[in-house]
Amino acid sequence: MNASPLSPAQTQDGTPTVLYGGVTNRRVTVRDLAKAKQHGERWAMLTAYDALTAGVFDEADIPVLLVGDSAGNCHLGYETTVPVTMDQMVMLSAAVVRGTKRALIVADLPFGSYQESPAQALHNAARLLKEAGVGAVKLEGGERSARAIELLVEAGIPVMAHIGLTPQSVHAFGGYPVQGRGDEAAHQLLRDAKAVQQAGAFAVVLEAVPAELSAQVTEQLTVPTVGIGAGVNCDAQVLVWTDFAGMTAGRVPKFVKQYANLRAVLGDAAREFAAEVGAGTFPAPEHTFK
Ligand code: KIV
Repeated sequence: MNASPLSPAQTQDGTPTVLYGGVTNRRVTVRDLAKAKQHGERWAMLTAYDALTAGVFDEADIPVLLVGDSAGNCHLGYETTVPVTMDQMVMLSAAVVRGTKRALIVADLPFGSYQESPAQALHNAARLLKEAGVGAVKLEGGERSARAIELLVEAGIPVMAHIGLTPQSVHAFGGYPVQGRGDEAAHQLLRDAKAVQQAGAFAVVLEAVPAELSAQVTEQLTVPTVGIGAGVNCDAQVLVWTDFAGMTAGRVPKFVKQYANLRAVLGDAAREFAAEVGAGTFPAPEHTFK
């Protein structure tokens, strides 16, 4: 049977793609992602913060799940990612690992867990591998984080870098402005991308970067770029799951596409349940032990 037009599992000539069609009975690895770049194969990444949701995305063949520190504002009720702690990241990451079988699980190093020194970064990244069981970590920063990335990679820890708009610096940025605009900023972004690749990062998240610039970065790097608000020319795309599924209250950033409206679905279900309880129609006989 042919794959449906929406299935990413096959190339046009019918051969399995590296990630969606090729990796069937084991977890995706960073080597698979490198191969996907060589084959020009695009892939999707979603955030996840709990076992149940992660399991849904795993069954939907999302090859990489990010336990982002966006858990701070999307799961734990903080305003930003800044308050998230290592203990919280370990707990959430372990749940995501338990809920999945095939996705590569990448966990964020939260604010304050790696900036002090490369040794601090290694200590905390090792916790995420040993205590939570993730396959890789992510940290923010380009040239400024290169030494930490190098040490982690030397220690055998795969690192995804994150440049452009780095949300842990929200107070320094004074919000969440688009990055890389203007010649000097664009050159700095290119230097950052090359520095993290040189340090050994296996992939680079580009957040809130003009599409022409992220296309340039993607062309110049041998490792995959993962865009969020960075246009269509990145090797991969990531969205925060609560944004893409319509769970987020209020406005979402311009770069978000909502693929579902779960907030409305759950709200309607909750109102219907409360109404039936009030009316005495739930539980019905079929929900009742005789
Ligand atoms: O924490 C997060 O969810 C992220 C993504 C926005 C890339 O870093």
